[in-house]
Amino acid sequence: MNTHQDAHGHIGHEQAADSAVALAKLLVLDGEVLASYFSELTGRLAELADPVPARILDLGSGPGTGSFALARRFPAAHVTAVDISGQMLHRVSEQAAAHGVADRISTVEANIDESWAEIGEGGPYDLIWAAAFMHHVADPARTFARAFDQLHPGGLIAVTEMDFFPLYLPEDTGVGRPGLETRLHAATNTRPPHEWTGHLRDAGFTPQERRPFDIRLDATQAGPSLSAYAQGSLAKLRSHATEVLDADDLAALDVLLDEEHPHSVARRHDLSVRTTRTTWIARRPLTHRTVRLVTGRDARRPTRGVRGFAGTRRSDGRRVGGAGPMYPPTGALSCSRATCWRQTDPERPARSRTAPGTDGPGGAGRPGQGPTVICCAGSVVSVTL
Ligand SMILES: C[S@@+](CC[C@H](N)C(=O)[O-])C[C@H]1O[C@@H](n2cnc3c(N)ncnc32)[C@H](O)[C@@H]1O
Repeated sequence: MNTHQDAHGHIGHEQAADSAVALAKLLVLDGEVLASYFSELTGRLAELADPVPARILDLGSGPGTGSFALARRFPAAHVTAVDISGQMLHRVSEQAAAHGVADRISTVEANIDESWAEIGEGGPYDLIWAAAFMHHVADPARTFARAFDQLHPGGLIAVTEMDFFPLYLPEDTGVGRPGLETRLHAATNTRPPHEWTGHLRDAGFTPQERRPFDIRLDATQAGPSLSAYAQGSLAKLRSHATEVLDADDLAALDVLLDEEHPHSVARRHDLSVRTTRTTWIARRPLTHRTVRLVTGRDARRPTRGVRGFAGTRRSDGRRVGGAGPMYPPTGALSCSRATCWRQTDPERPARSRTAPGTDGPGGAGRPGQGPTVICCAGSVVSVTL
């Protein structure tokens, strides 16, 4: 869901405010209508989480649909909702007070593309949730790396994307040509689908599952908020359709959005919800930053850089356990926030291939299969001995 822009891509303050209010209302309705989906997803997180999450971070929380679903699922947890929009967060605080969970939900107004200092104050977290949000960030690799830093080892991240806006209308609405909603979607949904598995892996997470949710609710299952949800959602698509939909379809859509019209969305009893969402669930590995590779009687730590990863010096005085930029003669390691790299010791084989009589536990074996360190954005994200 993007903020509505004019033909030049500019957006006025009042328009932005109206747009944020409209989006907040739509997202609240989304939470009400899709309550069963939120319950299924948070239930799955409860199965995977160990221990039960006590601190939860909701990135790009909007009005807090996810924050509240998580607060319900984990009644002892504290949720930090972060959003760039004060209006969205105002809604979170208002609803938190109304639901009696104000002491368990706090808000941070911050641009996630900038400093995470304030976000870090509520951490480290056991669970990070980012719904319909990651595609908004300027640099997903950096955001995933920061999320990794904010998670406890063993903690979970759940990233959800809405694959497309829900469909609500029957094939033939009785207004205009049949198939209007399908054409509306085809004209306005031109983005390729998102895929976050590679990003999660690159940041050091271990993917747990990529779970598609196929959501199909009839009017009874969707409940009383359905027509307002369909009205708000179709109105949002209408605002993007002016240039891309045929005039007769635009006219039919306007009739459907006219609350006074007998065929309008607001008055229909044949609405339903059909949509899919995908959630990527990944875990920060337990072994992180605590691994020390200290072997041989002359083992020494590197002077600075990658924490807890020490190279070794063989009895003949040669340094092993790192190569090239990993263990330069000065001992200076470079695992900066700006880079990601993988370093495998080309000389020293893996510990499991140790042969008796060789120098140190690395011993003989196939070169290049030895200890590997992956550094990403300032963190050692994986060490294989
Ligand atoms: C589509 S909404 C999703 C809201 C919520 N996660 C949900 O599923 O209902 C995206 C949210 O991300 C927020 N957002 C976008 N860019 C942001 C940024 N750089 N930093 C923080 N929040 C941002 C927007 O204000 C908006 O509330």
